[in-house]
Amino acid sequence: MEYTTLARTGLKVSKMGLGCGGPSRIGKNTGKSESESISIIRQALDAGINFIDTAESYRTEKIVGKAIQGHNRASVVLSTKKTMGVKLNARKIRKSLDASLNNLGTDYIDIYSFHAVSPEDYEFIASNMLPVFLEARDQGKIRFIGITEAFHSDTGHIMLQRALQDDCWDVMMVGFNILNQSARDRVLTKAMEKNIGILVMYAVRRALSNPARLRAAIHALIAEGKVNPAEIDMSEPLRFLMHDGGAITIVDAAYRFCCYEPGTHVILSGTGEPVHLQANIDSFSRQSLPRDDMNRLMQIFQKVDSLSGD
Ligand SMILES: NC(=O)c1ccc[n+]([C@@H]2O[C@H](COP(=O)([O-])OP(=O)(O)OC[C@H]3O[C@@H](n4cnc5c(N)ncnc54)[C@H](OP(=O)(O)O)[C@@H]3O)[C@@H](O)[C@H]2O)c1
Repeated sequence: MEYTTLARTGLKVSKMGLGCGGPSRIGKNTGKSESESISIIRQALDAGINFIDTAESYRTEKIVGKAIQGHNRASVVLSTKKTMGVKLNARKIRKSLDASLNNLGTDYIDIYSFHAVSPEDYEFIASNMLPVFLEARDQGKIRFIGITEAFHSDTGHIMLQRALQDDCWDVMMVGFNILNQSARDRVLTKAMEKNIGILVMYAVRRALSNPARLRAAIHALIAEGKVNPAEIDMSEPLRFLMHDGGAITIVDAAYRFCCYEPGTHVILSGTGEPVHLQANIDSFSRQSLPRDDMNRLMQIFQKVDSLSGD
């Protein structure tokens, strides 16, 4: 497993992080038992993944807590998030944080983030709710403060571009993948200048793990005028990535594409399938995609900022 330093936090983190939300919620959405979900987390830890992302809203914090029992707490980097809500207030944040600590069976959270903040909510969060996080940091309940975007609707990163003007965020979670690379210029460049840790979500999601959804996504992008049909094979749009010395599968290509992107630190990967987890661990041990393939992906999808890839 490759490791890196999560920018200004100084945390040593694995490039591959285990995401406990997303479409599979470590198997909770796909019919797996709690013990199977626990064993996915342990399989990840045994492979050297030390970054685990969960959230209040995923309802997987307790499973993470059980899975890390018996592990040296200092060897795991735990990230969890406070759900946004119309009536968010200081009392609710303090209560949620204490519940998260209890669920995770720990007395500190490494990265505590505001979850899926919309552009409309940003000013309220930064002015009124951030002080509650700062207070929790002073109390030692959290170590670093993060913010994650609502990528399903904010596909062009309006909220994070605003957040980058402030100096209070240690870590940001951004949607970035082969299909929507708009974070490169809009978020990653500035985040590098400010030494902010970047967690990538949506590296694969559903469009890049399901051929029918991929074709539908490409059709939509062509209809929108964001992709030139002359540059892509409509029946197997990313087939060109699979060749000797290239990607093994589209999912393999998708994780490797993100892993070597300058400015990214942890690429989150979510699964409830042990075989998928192992395949993804293998992908993170491979080299960057060949330069010609990377250039072609950048050329084809250069105008896309309107889809998440779900
Ligand atoms: N706003 C936010 O803060 C936010 C939003 C979304 C996500 N996140 C975080 O980001 C994490 C990563 O996102 P994600 O969970 O969507 O992860 P992802 O890695 O982009 O995609 C996961 C999807 O791909 C499938 N998959 C994974 N490996 C595969 C393989 N080798 N072959 C075929 N299919 C494969 C999974 O299904 P299987 O279970 O069948 O493998 C799942 O449906 C989440 O878990 C969560 O922690 C945060």
